[in-house]
Amino acid sequence: MKTTINQAAKYLNQEVTLGVWLANKRSSGKIAFLQLRDGTGFIQGIVVKKNVSDEIFQLAKFVSQESSLYVRGTIVEDTRSPFGYEIQVENIELIHKSLDYPITPKEHGTEFLMDHRHLWLRSKKQHAIMKIRNQIIQATYQFFKQEGFMKIDPPILTGSAAEGTTELFHTKYFEEEAYLSQSGQLYMEAAAMALGRVFSFGPTFRAEKSKTRRHLIEFWMIEPEMAFVTHEESLEIQENYVQFIIESVIEHCELELNTLNRDIQTLKKIKAPFPRITYDKAVEMLKEKGLEDLQWGEDFGAPHETAIAENFDQPVFITHYPKNIKAFYMKPDPERDDVVLCADLIAPEGYGEIIGGSARIDDLALLEQRYQEHQLSEEAYGWYLDLRKYGSVPHAGFGLGLERTVAWISGVEHVRETIPFPRLLNRLYP
Ligand code: 4AD
Ligand code: MG
Repeated sequence: MKTTINQAAKYLNQEVTLGVWLANKRSSGKIAFLQLRDGTGFIQGIVVKKNVSDEIFQLAKFVSQESSLYVRGTIVEDTRSPFGYEIQVENIELIHKSLDYPITPKEHGTEFLMDHRHLWLRSKKQHAIMKIRNQIIQATYQFFKQEGFMKIDPPILTGSAAEGTTELFHTKYFEEEAYLSQSGQLYMEAAAMALGRVFSFGPTFRAEKSKTRRHLIEFWMIEPEMAFVTHEESLEIQENYVQFIIESVIEHCELELNTLNRDIQTLKKIKAPFPRITYDKAVEMLKEKGLEDLQWGEDFGAPHETAIAENFDQPVFITHYPKNIKAFYMKPDPERDDVVLCADLIAPEGYGEIIGGSARIDDLALLEQRYQEHQLSEEAYGWYLDLRKYGSVPHAGFGLGLERTVAWISGVEHVRETIPFPRLLNRLYP
């Protein structure tokens, strides 16, 4: 029976054939231990000299790392391994012999591994991170389906900027100038006016000259947008969504979290509602912690976010930022004109902002005033004003950065390991 490693439990004490690669091995005179992987998981293959032909035992002993094989054998329990099963090998068929695989079991430097990202993805750690990423994506679709959202795909080539003009990737669109999307939000607002509650999931691009553990040039964002929803109601949806994806990862990826040495108890404690503090309060907290350099009206940097997060064991919403450091579309606080109805969700353990969201300006005259202040042209943004001309409604939305969320939940230091092929300041290869 041909099957895959993740199905092993179903074939206990039965003979199966697995298509695999050799991840690692060790052997003595009488027995060879093969670490096998097939993409669905990792399993140990035991080859006992007296149970197989000389030819097969020689193959098991000398097969090179990352050679591809068909392995036939019996699935048995293995209480010592976290996976729980191993395969007692009866036959091995070499499909392709790999020569001089560059990533050996010894330690390699990050740059070397990044240059070999196309191969590094095969490692146990990278496999675990990709499984968790996939689980978060699955949980996202499940959550928004259950909450009555429709998936909508905004364009990637655009004629206008959503998050400020300094970080745009420019490209030619025949005779016109175009940009790669920084955020689908403006289009998602149009979609919310057509379909009520919508979410997008797609790549976004920021030509940011940042070289930090939290910044990618190309990253994936989940952007829900909701008609007739207030800022407060949006925060509730955000915290429920984050709790949902964490529960889903704990339920389906325990093995992978263990592979990554992620403390599952810490994750289990994450429960909505999350604490909320205002920007004003956050500035006060920073002063108390001795981070006096930050003046009211300035944006937080990574050290500020980390310092604030240290006060909580949950993610924390920082709300009501000064309007001057936030995007043009954010709705002012009706009580106070100098701050906006927005929130950034800061993850614990130094992972920083994972969500940015806000209520959107729904008043036509006010939005027109912002166009003046931000010098936004009617030519590029005229359509966005239309949403305030024809049945404008209060609405809110947010964007969750997938890679930062994967990094936090997986406990991985740097976002470069949370996307299959990271685009970084100095990296477009492979
Ligand atoms: O806070 P941002 O810039 O918000 C927006 O783009 C809004 N238009 C979203 C919305 O309301 N629909 O980005 C949202 C999230 C951040 O919180 C962060 O998680 C992630 O996107 N993000 C990045 N992730 C990796 N690398 C970068 N350079 C990122 N920039 C933002
Ligand atoms: Mg932000």
